[in-house]
Amino acid sequence: MDNKFCSVKPLRDNTLPQVFIETYGCQMNVNDSEVVLSVLQRAGYSICDHLKDADIILINTCSIRDNAEQRVWGRLDVFLQEKKSRKGVIVGVLGCMAERLKEELLRHPAVDIVAGPDAYRDIPKLIAALKSDAGKQINTLLSHEETYADISPVRMDKNGVSAFISIMRGCNNMCSYCVVPYVRGAERSRDPESIIREAQELFDNGYKEVSLLGQNVDSYNWTDPDNPTRSVNFAQLLERVALIDPRLRVRFSTSHPKDMGNGVLYTMAMYPNICNHIHLPVQSGSNAMLLKMNRKYTRESYLERVAKIREILPDCTISTDIIAGFCGETEQDHRDTLSLMEEVRFDSAFMFQYSERPNTKAARHFPDDVPPEVKTRRLNEIIELQNRLSLESNQKTLGKTFDVLIEGISKRSDRQLIGRTPQNKVCVFDAEGHTIGGYAKVRIHSCTSATLMAKIAEEEPKHAGTLKIKEKIKDILGERHPGKKE
Ligand code: SAH
Ligand code: SF4
Ligand code: F3S
Repeated sequence: MDNKFCSVKPLRDNTLPQVFIETYGCQMNVNDSEVVLSVLQRAGYSICDHLKDADIILINTCSIRDNAEQRVWGRLDVFLQEKKSRKGVIVGVLGCMAERLKEELLRHPAVDIVAGPDAYRDIPKLIAALKSDAGKQINTLLSHEETYADISPVRMDKNGVSAFISIMRGCNNMCSYCVVPYVRGAERSRDPESIIREAQELFDNGYKEVSLLGQNVDSYNWTDPDNPTRSVNFAQLLERVALIDPRLRVRFSTSHPKDMGNGVLYTMAMYPNICNHIHLPVQSGSNAMLLKMNRKYTRESYLERVAKIREILPDCTISTDIIAGFCGETEQDHRDTLSLMEEVRFDSAFMFQYSERPNTKAARHFPDDVPPEVKTRRLNEIIELQNRLSLESNQKTLGKTFDVLIEGISKRSDRQLIGRTPQNKVCVFDAEGHTIGGYAKVRIHSCTSATLMAKIAEEEPKHAGTLKIKEKIKDILGERHPGKKE
């Protein structure tokens, strides 16, 4: 591969055609946009930050809920105005909505190109065909093999501290409410060597944290095509990434309650640089709903997994996803969700109203029969309870110290920094000479349900050794990355 294109940095060159990309949806989509930019950068395009400067406008879309799609339709109308005011602008729709709606999107007057999640290598060709007057272009073929393993994503984050690495694509789980298996295709695991190489490359470029991404990381399983007896599972992959360097923080998402084995928990316990946080979506606390959702675990087995996490990793936080008002959900089912939340005491949660997705099993077989106002009321009760649980979780950190990786400057004051604890709690504190990309030991003095407020901790006898090591690490990093501020 040409070295110029191995770079994790975006190419900015005014003499080349300019590409602008807007991204909706999950972290995997964010990473996919970085893959797309890498493909286009190799094909001779430059990246720009403003719609107004773009020759090619791309929108990477999400279909998970109806409102995610409505936002994209709204943006297409904005892009249409842009095309009217500047002749020659090309608009491409990528991602999950492109896969789901195909020609329907192509019929929108703003849209020139539609490319599904496995067609990103083809985008330069689609643009070339369009330019040679071959008409609007579409490729929504799904693949059983594509993992974009050989493409180094162009990193678009501003801080150069934390990066996503997709370790697998697609999903085989067929949860009855979910559109992902239809729009992302079958599950496939990426070659572990390419993952390690990418993580190493990021570390060598000054990154301090990688997040390994998949819809169900616990079912990561790569088999060597040249030697089918050789395979790598998620716990083994996690260990390999953690071994790159103790100064590289490792996170991962999403864990599936039916697949998360103890091996992953023991690996987390062995390597302090694997962050003590697990995102373990429960969706509902009712066995009847879980069965209908085809989640393949029960309330009891979920609670057993939580108990195991607490036993092996007492400091680990647990976050979750919850759906309110799924088909046929009764008041009792809803109360079961609330009681499960109380029992687990989730540290944080993403909470949604059920949104029927066309052609899923739920859409075909179960009436979407919980009235909108009931869905809203139940969601509000769930949010209210979680706000209390999040606050209580944060209150438990008061007076304690944490190593925080500094990711940015606080929105409220440029003399304050923002970072996350290993448990994924957002922390704000006075800079006192610290800078983005470094680690700080902070003591928590107050909190809200969303944020911890802290101060740089005075040296503690118990942690003096750690502090000294941190200073040493800063020296080493300063030498290895002279261009980067520590
Ligand atoms: N693979 C992950 C989740 C991916 S989608 C997992 O299995 O946990 C992220 C979240 O969106 C899901 O956990 C679920 O809570 C929510 N979600 C998915 N489909 C939805 C739908 N049709 N309506 C509302 N929320 C949905
Ligand atoms: Fe959707 Fe279920 Fe796959 Fe998650 S595991 S992406 S919820 S089908
Ligand atoms: Fe959305 Fe596709 Fe991710 S549907 S949540 S962007 S996998």
